[in-house]
Amino acid sequence: MAVSDTTGSQAHRVDVVGAASASVTCAEDQPLLDAFLRNGVYLPNSCNQGTCGTCKVRLCSGTVDAPEVPETVLGADDQARGFVLACQSRPRSDTTIEVEAPEQTGPRHRLRDVAGTVHGIETVAHDTVTVLVDIDEPLDFSAGQYMEIAVPGTGEWRQYSMANPPASASRLEFQIRRVPGGVATDGWIFGGLDVGHELEMRGPWGDFAYEPGADEPETPMLLLAGGTGLAPLTSIAAQALTDDPDREIHLYHGVRHEADLYHQQFWQELAERHRGLTYVPCLSRSEWVGRTGYVGDAVLDDFASLRGYVAYLCGPPAMVDAGVKACKRRRMPARNIRREKYTPSGIVPAGLSA
Ligand SMILES: Cc1cc2nc3c(=O)[nH]c(=O)nc-3n(C[C@H](O)[C@H](O)[C@H](O)COP(=O)(O)OP(=O)(O)OC[C@H]3O[C@@H](n4cnc5c(N)ncnc54)[C@H](O)[C@@H]3O)c2cc1C
Ligand code: FES
Repeated sequence: MAVSDTTGSQAHRVDVVGAASASVTCAEDQPLLDAFLRNGVYLPNSCNQGTCGTCKVRLCSGTVDAPEVPETVLGADDQARGFVLACQSRPRSDTTIEVEAPEQTGPRHRLRDVAGTVHGIETVAHDTVTVLVDIDEPLDFSAGQYMEIAVPGTGEWRQYSMANPPASASRLEFQIRRVPGGVATDGWIFGGLDVGHELEMRGPWGDFAYEPGADEPETPMLLLAGGTGLAPLTSIAAQALTDDPDREIHLYHGVRHEADLYHQQFWQELAERHRGLTYVPCLSRSEWVGRTGYVGDAVLDDFASLRGYVAYLCGPPAMVDAGVKACKRRRMPARNIRREKYTPSGIVPAGLSA
């Protein structure tokens, strides 16, 4: 039964069955994932831009408007069986979808629109800034999750992970690296964004999250970051150390050159205050006094076994894939490996998988 939503556009009832069971109203111009998360109903999700495949659901009945999906994101078999991406599909009739039981479930915070004002911008490396944003009211989120920020005048949104822990949720911290020619970064954030500017945001998004109590107490933690993949791991480490100041945490931060490193002093001082924390910056493209090579290789060198560990990996897809392989080679159980890939918007490299 089609109804009108508050904006006057047509809306439809969407039922989800399977691992989740709920009904929501979804406008014709609204992605299914957005409708469920705004109603506090969890569906698996990660990139919200059609590049990871995490949000796949099976269309049981009804019609949706869905863009063509590359087989690198949704395999031919899945497409033949009626799977669509919930983050890209909009209903054209009342619809029923099925969600398979995910290996891991994610946070349940309700998605909402968030108004922000830039409080501060600091250059922390030659191509990286931290941006502090004051928001309308405190945001419920889990360490590791991200916001989408509208790029003014373009109709584009980009994802940026919170670096602050959830407890300080009235002011969000983002760590943002400049991408040459990038619409959001080169064209806006590094090209005119200033203190006092207002931001249109929505979130929180993503299954990549540390939930207090999710791991057995005292499970040692491996954090592998590439570039600004450090942002969500900063939030995760802060939350984990709040829960247990002595927790064993090994943070590896991979960048190409020494000039790309940032927040070294922060991590060194944090490691002095927490005896269980080690901080290992690694350079992959130049020599220096510290570690060199890729973070995955550094982990292989440093650990004979990771059987009892849990890992959080975040950064460029190739770095995350290599890090996951290293964890598996050291016998870390797959269910203990949590990852987030900073996939460029709309770009799906061959062989990319969630
Ligand atoms: C879940 C998620 C969380 C993210 N969190 C963060 C974060 O906390 N901090 C952060 O800095 N970024 C983060 N990103 C990446 C961010 O969302 C943007 O993709 C990035 O800032 C580039 O946007 P842009 O508009 O400047 O470039 P675009 O206009 O999207 O891209 C311009 C060109 O550069 C290419 N390109 C884009 N990104 C890269 C890259 N990384 N390496 C090489 N080429 C690239 C594109 O293919 C395109 O050709 C995240 C991405 C995801 C999916
Ligand atoms: S969350 Fe939909 S494809 Fe990544």
